[in-house]
Amino acid sequence: MTAGRGSIEAPLALLAELTHRCPLHCPYCSNPTALTGPGAELDTATWARVFREAAALGCLQVHLSGGEPTARRDIVALVAAASAAGLYTNLITAGVLLDAAKLAALAAAGLDHVQLSVQDAEPASADRIGGYAGGHARKLAAARLVTEAGLPLTLNAVVHRQNLDRLPALIALALDLGAGRLEVAHVQYYGWALANRDALLPGRDQLEAATRTVEAARRALSGRLVIDYVVPDYHAARPKSCMGGWGRRFLAVSPAGRVLPCHAAESLPGFDFPDVRQVSLRQAWEDSGAFARFRGTGWMPPPCRGCDRAEVDWGGCRCQAFALTGDAAATDPACAFSPHHALLASAVATAAASGEGFTYREPRRQP
Ligand code: SF4
Ligand code: FES
Repeated sequence: MTAGRGSIEAPLALLAELTHRCPLHCPYCSNPTALTGPGAELDTATWARVFREAAALGCLQVHLSGGEPTARRDIVALVAAASAAGLYTNLITAGVLLDAAKLAALAAAGLDHVQLSVQDAEPASADRIGGYAGGHARKLAAARLVTEAGLPLTLNAVVHRQNLDRLPALIALALDLGAGRLEVAHVQYYGWALANRDALLPGRDQLEAATRTVEAARRALSGRLVIDYVVPDYHAARPKSCMGGWGRRFLAVSPAGRVLPCHAAESLPGFDFPDVRQVSLRQAWEDSGAFARFRGTGWMPPPCRGCDRAEVDWGGCRCQAFALTGDAAATDPACAFSPHHALLASAVATAAASGEGFTYREPRRQP
């Protein structure tokens, strides 16, 4: 499948960041430190055009995300527009704003799948991490509404030092709620999460115990629950293939309409990301210098250049490279071949000696 420009392939999925508004205050939020205010958000008609353009470009799925996508008053209309465009619609939600009527309306509008986040299996800890009293109970109620509505449910558990020991309970929770899939997602340390890294990074022993738990659960629950799990960068020798490679598989549109190769890219300096109010999604994908900058392997410095994994991990994550080295074009320090790889081990050591207090995001939004 190609997008019509030589070797540029079509994207598979669109991440639609409908809003940065969110009732939760997770200390590992990967949204930018400066948030977009509601006055700058794209309107319903523009999103509907974006969905049609995404489908025409070759996207099969749209992930409706945020912030909290159900904070948008027009969320039902947006789901209907994405569904009418022919996209498989996945709602990525914290669930605390969902009730039976909203869920019925979303299902009637064509919603295909719900991915619900949980902060922990233990309610008091979950509410503390999310900074939202009573949030965990609301999430459990929302999860039951999802399965009662006949929609497939994925539970997304963001894990870190302060909840990783409760992984068996998180797996049991996924089963109890009727989820078909559990994503055990280690925190990615950019955006707001970097400010809380010392309170969140797990140690090696804790991580290895969690990996054994996942392996045993996968064997025991085969056919009942799919568990997604990737060893986190800070304990890995090779980086993840972030977004499947810059400008290769995914594109994101920010609440204010910036077209991005990943949701975190807007914080990279020196980029002029296209504005979907001024260009089509196809123009952004095929013609913009920002997408071309790290597409493929031609941009790679040593040691990536010539490496036999260059087309496997695509040099890792550009946002992590920038966050840790100040150079978005550097080899991801998660790679043991990177001259900066020791930064990760020293961050793990620093975190092990640190406390567990969080720095919560101020309620600071830009208009
Ligand atoms: Fe991947 Fe680059 Fe490391 Fe090779 S050197 S494994 S391409 S990050
Ligand atoms: Fe931006 Fe990995 S999060 S490239």
